[in-house]
Amino acid sequence: MEIMIEKLTGIAALRYRVREARATGAIGFVPTMGALHEGHLTLVRQARAECKTVVVSIFVNPTQFNDKKDLEKYPRDLERDIALCQEAGAHLVFAPEPEEIYPDGFCTAVTVDGPLTQTLEGKYRPGHFAGVTTVVAKLLHIVQPDRAYFGEKDWQQLKVVQRMVADLNLPVEIVPCATVREVDGLAMSSRNIRLSPEARKQAVFLPYLLNTAQDIFDAATYESQTDKGPVISAWLTTLLENNIPGAEIDYIAVIDPETLMGVDEIKDRALVALAVKIGGVRLIDNRIIFKR
Ligand code: PAF
Repeated sequence: MEIMIEKLTGIAALRYRVREARATGAIGFVPTMGALHEGHLTLVRQARAECKTVVVSIFVNPTQFNDKKDLEKYPRDLERDIALCQEAGAHLVFAPEPEEIYPDGFCTAVTVDGPLTQTLEGKYRPGHFAGVTTVVAKLLHIVQPDRAYFGEKDWQQLKVVQRMVADLNLPVEIVPCATVREVDGLAMSSRNIRLSPEARKQAVFLPYLLNTAQDIFDAATYESQTDKGPVISAWLTTLLENNIPGAEIDYIAVIDPETLMGVDEIKDRALVALAVKIGGVRLIDNRIIFKR
C-alpha cells in the first residue's frame, strides 16, 4: 500500500504527528537542506528499513552559510524533494520557513568547542559548525527521533554532531551512513549540479586522488616515508596541482578519524579528507586509508 507523505511547516503540527506515530514504533529522522540526491534517499531508505516512521526535514539553514552568495545559489525545489521522499518511503516532511526556526528575538547557539570544529571546514567556513549544531540540536529536539541518519561524506559534521549528542545526553542514536557515489566515483552532493561539463570531468580526479592515497600508503618504504600523514598529503597536493591546474585547494589532510587531528605516522588507519574548488564549485570528500 502506498503511503501518502505529509508535509508540515509548523513545529506544533509536526510534534503532534510525531507523538501519534511514536505510539506505533521507532521514529527515524533524516535532516536535509533539500536538493535531494541519491545520497539523501539512501539515508531515507535505511531509516525506513530500521524505523516505523520516517521524518525528513528540508530546511536550508541560513546560519550555517558563511558566504551569503552560497546561500542564495543553494538549489531549492521543494515539490520535487517531497516527491523523492515519498518514493523513498518517508512518511512526514518537515519544511519550516526560517521564521519558524529562528523567530524574532532568537539568540541562542549550541556550539562544540575545540579541534573538532576548528580544523578543516571550521577553518575555512567560520561559524559554519555553530550554525549546524544549533539547527541540528533544535531539529532533534523538535522531532525527538529514536535514530537520526547522517552521511559520512560530511565526516567532520558527523563527528561534531556525535560529540554534541554525547555531551548533551540527547536521547538519540546517530547512525552514520556510507558515502554514495556516482558510477565514476564522484561523491554525490547537491553542489554537483553546479559543475560545468568540463569541471564535472575534472571533479572525478578527487575520488581518484583519495584512492591513490591508499596506494601511496601501501607502497610505503623507509626511504619514501609515505606512511606519514604530511608526506601523503604533499604527494596528493602535487598530483592534484599537476593534473587539475585550476583547482583551488583548501585542504588535503591526513587526520585521525575520531579526533580530526593531523597524524604523523599512520599506525592502523587514518582519514584522508579534502576540500577543493573546481570550476568555482567547492567540493569535499574523504576516505579511510588503512594498513592491509
Ligand atoms: O548536512 C546537511 O545537509 C546540513 O548540514 C544539516 C545536517 C541538514 C543541518 O542543516
